[in-house]
Amino acid sequence: MYVLVTGGCGFIGSNFIRFLLERKRKTKVINVDKLTYAGNPANLEDVEKNHPDRYYFIKADISDKKAIRNIFDRHEIDWVINFAAESHVDRSILGPEIFIQVNIFGTFNLLENSRRAWQPENGKESRGKLFLQISTDEVYGTLGESGLFTERSPYDPSSPYSASKAASDHLVNAYFRTYGLPAIITNCSNNYGPYQFPEKLIPLMINNALKGDDLPIYGDGENVRDWIYVEDHCEALLKVLEMGVPGDKYNIGGSCEKKNREVVEVICDQLDRKLGPVGGRPRRSLMKYVADRPGHDRRYAVDSSKIMTELDWSPKVSFDEGIAMTIEWYIDNTEWTESILDGSYMEYYRTQYGERLDGKG
Ligand code: NAD
Ligand code: TYD
Repeated sequence: MYVLVTGGCGFIGSNFIRFLLERKRKTKVINVDKLTYAGNPANLEDVEKNHPDRYYFIKADISDKKAIRNIFDRHEIDWVINFAAESHVDRSILGPEIFIQVNIFGTFNLLENSRRAWQPENGKESRGKLFLQISTDEVYGTLGESGLFTERSPYDPSSPYSASKAASDHLVNAYFRTYGLPAIITNCSNNYGPYQFPEKLIPLMINNALKGDDLPIYGDGENVRDWIYVEDHCEALLKVLEMGVPGDKYNIGGSCEKKNREVVEVICDQLDRKLGPVGGRPRRSLMKYVADRPGHDRRYAVDSSKIMTELDWSPKVSFDEGIAMTIEWYIDNTEWTESILDGSYMEYYRTQYGERLDGKG
């Protein structure tokens, strides 16, 4: 079967492709990625080597009507898994337009092409087909001190990022209800693990703490996120793909609430234990409380009981294990991080992937 994965050169997408090719031996993956600043084909170098006949890369924009149509015309696509997005809240505050363009229009373009290819409303056989929209718990807005997001929580997004993800979720629902497009939405909490772009909290803090740079904590550091190790998310997505009910949505969380301050303290302490203090001082001394993010959601926490009971999934990796593995990965892969920080990863993909691949398949 052919699986069209979008945004596969990013953090979760690259982890998912590696996971899927290992788990499902008869699957072929077509990865469509525009290679924005967040997309790095080096994340899948091993996959390209290990699965030359099961992994194909196409450099294209999910909003590009011709390019996406071309892919559907050439291949009988069974699953579409849409990871492609602009994904960073702070960037969405500084420049929201690209978020609207990619997250909303790009998703619309994928939905339209899936509908045209599968034509469920004309009675064409769409059994076995599935459109999986990878969404976030941030669509639900903020929680107070108590309570959890369930699948029935109202959408109440705070940032341009979460508003654009909420809009794309609504489009996916509309395509299910109006055209019968077999589609599922998953709303996952904050992921962490290998290959996460070093602008997000955990990799940013690990890299700054390794170098002895300041660790900027927004506001009072008491904001809470529900952390999930990326491989647990991948497991959940495979369960949804194989057993999920079209038209349904599933929340996915790590059942692991942590204040940002606590997360940074754990990173500092683990690095001190492993490598000794930096510049003669414990790394906690690098923690700096800085201006808060505008519209900063106070607390996210996900009720995952639906996917746990209906699809028999639960997170396996504890925060202690996950953060230790993640820290280890960033220590072992400083070249990967440095190539991003000095911009040379862009050069790598320019030489590896010429214009030849642009949307032509
Ligand atoms: P990421 O920023 O690491 O990767 C995004 C990928 O999408 C990159 O490879 C980028 O090149 C690609 N992309 C961007 N615009 C594109 C376009 N127009 N056409 C084709 N490709 C494009 O993001 P991530 O953290 O891996 O998140 C993946 C998905 O999961 C996103 O949809 C995000 O909203 C969702 N999500 C993320 C988290 C999290 O904690 N990271 C949690 C829940 C949901
Ligand atoms: P982030 O990784 O950007 O994910 P999201 O905003 O999607 O939850 O941020 C996680 C939390 O960490 C969030 O509450 C903002 C906070 N944060 C900081 O305090 N300092 C930072 O430098 C960053 C990037 C995030």
